[in-house]
Amino acid sequence: MSTTADELREEVRRRYAESARAVTEGNGGCGCGSGSCCADGESDAAKFGEALYDAEQRGELPEAATLASLGCGNPTAVAELRAGETVLDLGSGGGIDVILSAKRVGPAGTAYGLDMTDEMLALAQKNAAEAGVTNVHFLKGVIEQIPLPAASVDMVISNCVINLSVDKPAVLTEIARVLKPGGRVGVSDVVAEDRLIPEERAARGSYVGCIAGALSKSEYVAGLEAAGFEDVSVEFTHEVAEGMYGAIVKARKTETPAAKGLP
Ligand SMILES: C[S@@+](CC[C@H](N)C(=O)[O-])C[C@H]1O[C@@H](n2cnc3c(N)ncnc32)[C@H](O)[C@@H]1O
Repeated sequence: MSTTADELREEVRRRYAESARAVTEGNGGCGCGSGSCCADGESDAAKFGEALYDAEQRGELPEAATLASLGCGNPTAVAELRAGETVLDLGSGGGIDVILSAKRVGPAGTAYGLDMTDEMLALAQKNAAEAGVTNVHFLKGVIEQIPLPAASVDMVISNCVINLSVDKPAVLTEIARVLKPGGRVGVSDVVAEDRLIPEERAARGSYVGCIAGALSKSEYVAGLEAAGFEDVSVEFTHEVAEGMYGAIVKARKTETPAAKGLP
C-alpha cells in the first residue's frame, strides 16, 4: 500500500513530537546521536545537531535549546542578519535558530518560528523564555501554507526541514510570497548529488530521518528559480550519506516581483 502525502506528514509530525518529548524529559531526541532526529545512529553525531554550532553560539543559548538542535547545518552562521530585520525560521523545532536570530536582529527586529508540531512549539517557547529573548513569536502551521502576510519578511532561514516537506514547490512559492522584494533565503538542508535518483536517495536513509525526501542540487536550483528567485546557490558542506550532503542554500527574491508576475 502506498503512503499518501497526509500519512507521510503525520509520520513526520509524530516523529518530531516524540523527539520534543524526549528532549523535554532530558533523554535526548529519539535517543540518536547528539539528540538529533535527523541522525540514524551514534556515528551521525558530528553531521547533525548541536555539533554544527560553535562554542560562541552555544554560549548564547540555554543548554536545553542546544540539546534540542536537530538540524543538518547552521543557517544563522551564514545569514547576514541586520538589526531591525524580520526573520522567519521554517520548522523551528526547539527554537535554537530563532533564539540566535532574535539576538542578531535585536529588540527592533522580530524572529518568527513556524512549526506544525505542538510539542516542538512548547519546547521552543520554554527555551526562548529561558534565553530571555522577547522579540520572538512561535506560530503553529505548515511551511506549505505560511501563516504570514505577503512581503512581510526580510530573511527566511530553515534547518533540515524542507527535505521533510511533502510539497516542496508549495514551500518555495510560499517563501517567495512572504519575502519582501529583495528579501533573502539562507537555508541548511540535506541535498543529493544529481546522479542519485529518488530510489537511490531512499536507499540511503529514511524520510523522517531527513534523507529519502532530499532534493538534488539541480532540483533545488530549478525549484527556486521557478518560484522567482535570483542568485541561487547550493553549496555542499559535509557528507551525511554517500552522495548526500548537508548544504547551504541561498537565494534572493527579485527587487521587482510585479514586473515578473510574482507576488
Ligand atoms: C529535523 S527537525 C529540525 C528542527 C530545527 N530546525 C533544528 O534545527 O533543530 C524538523 C522540524 O520541522 C518540523 N516540520 C517538519 N515538516 C513540517 C511542515 N511541513 N510544516 C511545519 N513544520 C514542519 C518538525 O515538527 C520539526 O520540528
